[in-house]
Amino acid sequence: MGKVKILVVHGPNLNLLGEREPQIYGRATLDEINSALNTLSEELDAELKIVQSNHEGVLVDEIHEARRWADAIIINPGAFTHYSIALRDALAAVGLPVVEVHLSNIHAREEFRRHSVIAPVAVGQICGFGVDSYLLGLRAAVKLARERKKE
Ligand code: DQA
Repeated sequence: MGKVKILVVHGPNLNLLGEREPQIYGRATLDEINSALNTLSEELDAELKIVQSNHEGVLVDEIHEARRWADAIIINPGAFTHYSIALRDALAAVGLPVVEVHLSNIHAREEFRRHSVIAPVAVGQICGFGVDSYLLGLRAAVKLARERKKE
């Protein structure tokens, strides 16, 4: 079938992983997470484009662009999870299967983190497993991408 193509989106503040609240988000840096994703993607025969931005509009543009080439999207929207209707609408607009991931268990934290405006436009959400949330998310996204290609 050939390689499936996946957009991986990291939202605001995730560039500081490793030094940012390690008791919550762990010690892995964004580079380490990305290289774990790249290693797994080779095993799964997938091709990744990985982006991180602290700016909502840049993320919206990347999601729009993905409609031309991607088969699925993995997104950790960071704090945008909880209030960005613009990101939600962008994901809904492109119509690709979306896997929402979080390092921490957002349902076991402050009240304001329990609600995700992204979840209703995602196929599913994986949270609370640290770096493994991304790796599990990649497995889910590759499967969704393959199913979509078969249709
Ligand atoms: C996060 C959870 C969000 O509530 C927070 O704003 C983040 C990271 C996570 O991966 O656990 O920036 O998305």
